[in-house]
Amino acid sequence: MTAGDKKKRRMRIVTGIRPTGPLHLGHLYGNVRQMIELTERHDCFYFSADYHVLTDKTKRIELTDVVEDNLIDLLACGLDPDKCTLFKQSDIPQIPEFSLILGMVTSVGLLERCPLYREQVKELGIDSPSFGLLGYPVLQTADICMYRGEVVPVGEDQLPHLYISADIAGTFRHRYADIFPVPEAKIMEVFARIPGTDNRKMSKSYGNAINISDDEGTTKKMVLTYYTDPKKPRKGDKGHPVECPVYYMHRLYLEGEPLDAVRKGCESGERMCYHCKEELADEINGELRPIRAKRVELMQDKDKLHRILEDGAEKARAVAEDVLAECRKAIGIDRM
Ligand code: TRP
Repeated sequence: MTAGDKKKRRMRIVTGIRPTGPLHLGHLYGNVRQMIELTERHDCFYFSADYHVLTDKTKRIELTDVVEDNLIDLLACGLDPDKCTLFKQSDIPQIPEFSLILGMVTSVGLLERCPLYREQVKELGIDSPSFGLLGYPVLQTADICMYRGEVVPVGEDQLPHLYISADIAGTFRHRYADIFPVPEAKIMEVFARIPGTDNRKMSKSYGNAINISDDEGTTKKMVLTYYTDPKKPRKGDKGHPVECPVYYMHRLYLEGEPLDAVRKGCESGERMCYHCKEELADEINGELRPIRAKRVELMQDKDKLHRILEDGAEKARAVAEDVLAECRKAIGIDRM
């Protein structure tokens, strides 16, 4: 293979989004934009990881509704289903069998040492964690290797899971056969950590998120609650824009002269935080307006959404069947 051929080969990218609630600006700038860009050059498999939600939900939620809402968000943001394979995890019946097989080569110690698992157990105060919670990374490995994923774009927080995936995939290959690649993590950089209104990472569980699907009034109300520099309580006080999440957010929408004006006005004290936030709300609403209009359109044609998902699942199942058949053969349970 020449260097030129290598360059042309499309990489298989796999990533999943857990349908825990509506997508927000943290998703838009931290994941979705990059996911869309990757479809231009690579062979991308994107799915809604609905089984993965069951690990931390004690109450029943309308998962199907959340899955659909998330997918509508992705499409409204510009993800083109003709340029990727878009589906729902639970539509692929090979996943649970593959996950079970991978579980056979996974060390419990490796899972117990996973810092994300430890955090969850501590945070939720669970005294007897479920088999599913401990096995979360096994299922995630199945999600990736099922489609021969080579690169997995994730947020930095997912790295421990990806190390475990590489370990499991490596063990399987070592013990049985070279059927799928050992996946690699790709940290999604640019603006990976969008600050929520309380200046912590934007997250549904912190109640600090601005959702893509909110209406303009809700967004404005939310933006007006943004944390700002406590050393600048009044107009006239000099601000510190580099420490301020509102300034950070302005940088997503403004550049050059208008952005300089915000910074200088804050530093000199001329600008009032309230007005700064009002302007930010307008910038966010302006950016989300066409996306929200597209959402309304997509919501009116659920049949189309279902067709997209069926097509995606069909393509994903074709690869999954192949990989699973090879695995069954490799472990010696292929003949009846
Ligand atoms: N664990 C991921 C998250 O919480 C979601 C996920 C499930 C995933 N399966 C995956 C991500 C496979 C990448 C690849 O964000």
